[in-house]
Amino acid sequence: MTFRIAQISDTHLSDTKPFFVDNFVRVGEALRRSKPDLVINSGDMTLDGSACEGDLAAGRALHDALGLPVRFLPGNHDLGEAQDAPGHHEPPIDAGRHARYLAHFGPDWWSVEVPGWHVLGLNALLLGSDLTAAIQQEAAISAATSGLGARRLALFLHKPLFDRSADEPEITGRFVNPASRRRLLDSLGTVTPALVACGHVHQYRARESAGTRHVWCTSTGFVIPDRLQPRYGLKEVGYVEHDLRPDGTHDSRLVRVPGVPTLNIADFPEAYGPV
Ligand SMILES: [Fe+2]
Ligand SMILES: [Fe+2]
Repeated sequence: MTFRIAQISDTHLSDTKPFFVDNFVRVGEALRRSKPDLVINSGDMTLDGSACEGDLAAGRALHDALGLPVRFLPGNHDLGEAQDAPGHHEPPIDAGRHARYLAHFGPDWWSVEVPGWHVLGLNALLLGSDLTAAIQQEAAISAATSGLGARRLALFLHKPLFDRSADEPEITGRFVNPASRRRLLDSLGTVTPALVACGHVHQYRARESAGTRHVWCTSTGFVIPDRLQPRYGLKEVGYVEHDLRPDGTHDSRLVRVPGVPTLNIADFPEAYGPV
């Protein structure tokens, strides 16, 4: 039987700054009608959980109210930025922020076994960090890939691995940095993931590279204006549905939810300051 994953991302929830909560609630209603086997939020659940614990609690409560099976992956706004990301706005990840995240959202990397597939969720912000947990995550990746057998690998994490190709040298913070990317790909050994699904850019894009389909899930809430961020794909809100079939074939598609507006962060200076 096909395993259906609904990937949501970049929900940016808060109870004190609830600008993007209505969109989330409406997308949640669509998810309840669609009844996926699993919902994955690929990070930035919260508006400012890295600095404000109340946002972590509010974000978790809103997801619990969905009444659906949900797995979480941290984003930079939930946990702090990757230590090797340049010039970031969020504070870098440290042991305290990491523990606080885990207390609210549970494991920051995990595996789900489904017929024909191993779904591996990773903490993108640990990549390139000096935390002990980074070593533990790397060991978990190696264990998952060495025990894969004939199954295919679907990888979920907050940040895209790259824009066009795995060997691009730019250090941006928008993508996993080159050294961390190399280390992650090395820890996969000889395994080529069939699917790498991410969030973070607030755009939808699906693109093939070296045998892997890279799918970027857009935000449920808002997009970022062109003067601040190039157009890589579609700047529209929604969620992504992934079908994983036991024979290893798979499909992904953007789902637009009627009545859910594509908000622009430039119209919400109270969220992160004027842009
Ligand atoms: Fe985001
Ligand atoms: Fe992000």
